[in-house]
Amino acid sequence: MDWKSKPLGNTFGIEIAGADLREELDERGRAELRRLLDEHLLIVFRNQHLSDDEHVDLLATFGRVSDERGDGVRHSFVSNVREGGLFGDWPLPFHQDYGTFQPTLASVISLYGYELRGPSMPTTFASLIHGYRRLPAELRDQVARLTAVHSVDLTIDTGRVGFEKRARLLESPEYPPEETHPRQTYPVVKPHPRTGAPMLFLSEMHTSHIEGFDSARSEALVQRLFAHLYDPAYLVAHEWAQGDLLIWDNVALQHGRRPVDLSAPVAQRTLRRIVICDKSTKEIFKNIRYNNSKGFTEARKYS
Ligand SMILES: [Fe+2]
Repeated sequence: MDWKSKPLGNTFGIEIAGADLREELDERGRAELRRLLDEHLLIVFRNQHLSDDEHVDLLATFGRVSDERGDGVRHSFVSNVREGGLFGDWPLPFHQDYGTFQPTLASVISLYGYELRGPSMPTTFASLIHGYRRLPAELRDQVARLTAVHSVDLTIDTGRVGFEKRARLLESPEYPPEETHPRQTYPVVKPHPRTGAPMLFLSEMHTSHIEGFDSARSEALVQRLFAHLYDPAYLVAHEWAQGDLLIWDNVALQHGRRPVDLSAPVAQRTLRRIVICDKSTKEIFKNIRYNNSKGFTEARKYS
């Protein structure tokens, strides 16, 4: 392998040049790729020409490639033009895929620039490991033993998937029951499952509140922590071009799409998505029954 890498931002992410990923990697190359992902969390390759199968084979380097719909197909499309494409191109708060409102996250995600016409909305990343490292010492001490409740928010009928607003359970006495609208409690500081690096484990999309705090005190702390976690100086935004291949650690990094001028002309954007996860989506989402938005038709496929 004659790969050359350069950093993407000032904390995490690398771009690797000199690779043609159509050539199959030997076990040494795959081990190196796993090492690079653990160290840098986000890897970008440009100008690739990967078929569906080549993309799946490359990602198998990182674990079990998920057959998300249970139909034998191990890729999907994030698209605003393709029929059956997921998640369109509207702004999305930062999150980890599969959502911290339940216990199992996808471990690795890959997106490939499949078809892009015109300037497209970038995908932006934030690191929970570096977010924790940036906390002042007094704030680290303050959060060391706290836990936070994470919740799905499917209460707004946007015709999408209800991803645009955090669920704040302390502000919502009428919130739907946990049986159908799940929630999960996590420590605010959580070690990364593979490397042990401490992460500031909060999510702009799914964190509801700090356990044991009243609403005002919880929200003040959550917003203070978000300001460190999502400090624009440390985000990495990827501007898409056809043939770009991104691979990222979906536990240590969150991704989102920041608000843009939606009145501007809409570019056509189709990205091929591959997910690495130990469990099947059927198993993860078996107890979740979404019931009040048009967007839930996508989610229903999991049941
Ligand atoms: Fe996502």
